[in-house]
Order: sequence, then structure tokens, then C-alpha cells
Amino acid sequence: MATVNLPSDAFRHVAARPHEPLRTFHPRRSVLGHDREDALDRLWPRWGFSVHDEDRGTAPLTEAGTLDTEALFGRRAPVVLEIGSGMGETTAAMAAADPGRDYLAVEAHLPGIANLLLLVDRAGLTNVRVAHGDALDLVRRHLPEGSLDAVHVFFPDPWPKARHHKRRIIQPVHVALLRSRLRIGGALHCATDWLEYAESMRETLEADPGLDNPAAPVGGFVARPAHRPVTKFEQRGLDLGHEVRDLVVHRVR
Ligand SMILES: C[S@@+](CC[C@H](N)C(=O)[O-])C[C@H]1O[C@@H](n2cnc3c(N)ncnc32)[C@H](O)[C@@H]1O
Repeated sequence: MATVNLPSDAFRHVAARPHEPLRTFHPRRSVLGHDREDALDRLWPRWGFSVHDEDRGTAPLTEAGTLDTEALFGRRAPVVLEIGSGMGETTAAMAAADPGRDYLAVEAHLPGIANLLLLVDRAGLTNVRVAHGDALDLVRRHLPEGSLDAVHVFFPDPWPKARHHKRRIIQPVHVALLRSRLRIGGALHCATDWLEYAESMRETLEADPGLDNPAAPVGGFVARPAHRPVTKFEQRGLDLGHEVRDLVVHRVR
């Protein structure tokens, strides 16, 4: 059997080359700890692949070079992409409650990848796969037009300084990219507790000509849908009095 090298966070510290888009995540090095090291050893070869480094486990690709989701999940089902799954609690809970769809979580932060693998293993989930690296790279290079049922972007890094806004995930060029990968009728669901970013997200999503926000006539935001669980990260914010905004828009063309 071919040996699969485990992922490392080394790529995070390589600045994007001048012709490449800016990264939307912070470079961080973190200690994994025993349980997560063990989770990576055991579970990465089964459920993980690397976006940027084929030596660390390749995604199955079709002849056209697109991600072969049928081979990846072992069945044909609607696919939900989660960008920046963090520690994975939301992914694991949503996938457990939604066995008819397949969840592809992409995260740049290695401990989060390992934690999600642990959660998936403990819950015995079969509809989750985990990719390490830059989700936008994966979407650009390997996800075909109209291939996703939904895209989830929950509590993306707010990049609060104006000079860093160009690193935000929710900005027009990324939204157009994500919209193109959704099927017609598919949903882009975003949530944030950073009110200025929430307002900028709302404006950006409503300005995209291919997206419809059914809540636009009533202010644009919706109450947290029951299927999106509250994460520890979010609860900490709520405890500090932060307000959370959810936006759910649909591809219409
Ligand atoms: C503030 S955390 C929120 C995590 C999680 N969604 C939650 O609600 O707890 C944002 C996460 O997005 C990840 N991230 C940001 N840009 C990314 C990208 N382009 N590809 C993959 N992960 C990304 C970061 O590494 C970070 O873990």
C-alpha cells in the first residue's frame, strides 16, 4: 500500500507568490497534542486530502481534472462545501443531522483538521471528508461550475483593519467564484459576529447579479437557522454580548 505523508502546516508560512491571490487566513503554528497527532495518523489516510501538496494525499480527480466527489464520498449525493471549518464542531453536527448530503470541509489550520477527523470518527460519520489547505485554491482549480449544493462560511476571519480587507473571504471576486460553483438554487450561507463585516457581506452578496437574498426586503439578515449549531467560538462571542448575523442567499443564474 502506498504510504501517505501526513499534512503539515508548513505551506501556511510560504507567502503567496506575486501572481497568486492573497491568502485569507492567518499564518499560525500550533501544537497538535497527542490525541490529534493520533487522529491524523489513523484517520487522515481515510478521510483527508491536501489541497496544495499531492505527496500528502491526493484528491481523486476526473479525467477533466475536477474533484471526483463520487469517488471521494463513495456515492453520488449533493455536496456541501464548508470554508474554514475551524475545530469542526459545526461540520460534524450538521453532517450528522443531514445524512443525505456529503460535507467537504476545508481548513488551513492543522489542529482543526485533526479535531474534525476525531469528531467524525467518534460519531461514525460517513458523509464528511476533510481537506487541508486554501479552500479558494481548491474551488478555483478543482470544483466545476454548478457542482455544489451549498457553501458554508461561518465566522470567517474578520480582518478588521481596512488595509487587510482585501484578505476577506467575502469580497466580490470570491463571491462570484463561489456562486459559479453552486448549482442554480444552491445556497451560500454566511455568519459573523463582526457587525461591520456583516454589513459589508450583505452589500457584497446583494450586489452580485447571480445571487438572490430573499431577506433583502426585511433588512437582509435572518435568524440563525436551527440546522446551524452554535459553536464554542460563537458562544464565547455571545457571552461577551456580540450579536451574530446570518445571511442565506441563493444562486438564481
Ligand atoms: C475565525 S475561524 C472560524 C472557524 C469556524 N468556522 C467556527 O465558526 O468556529 C476562521 C477559520 O477559517 C480558516 N480559513 C480562512 N481562510 C481560509 C481558506 N481560504 N481556506 C481554508 N481555511 C480558511 C482559518 O484558518 C480559521 O480556522
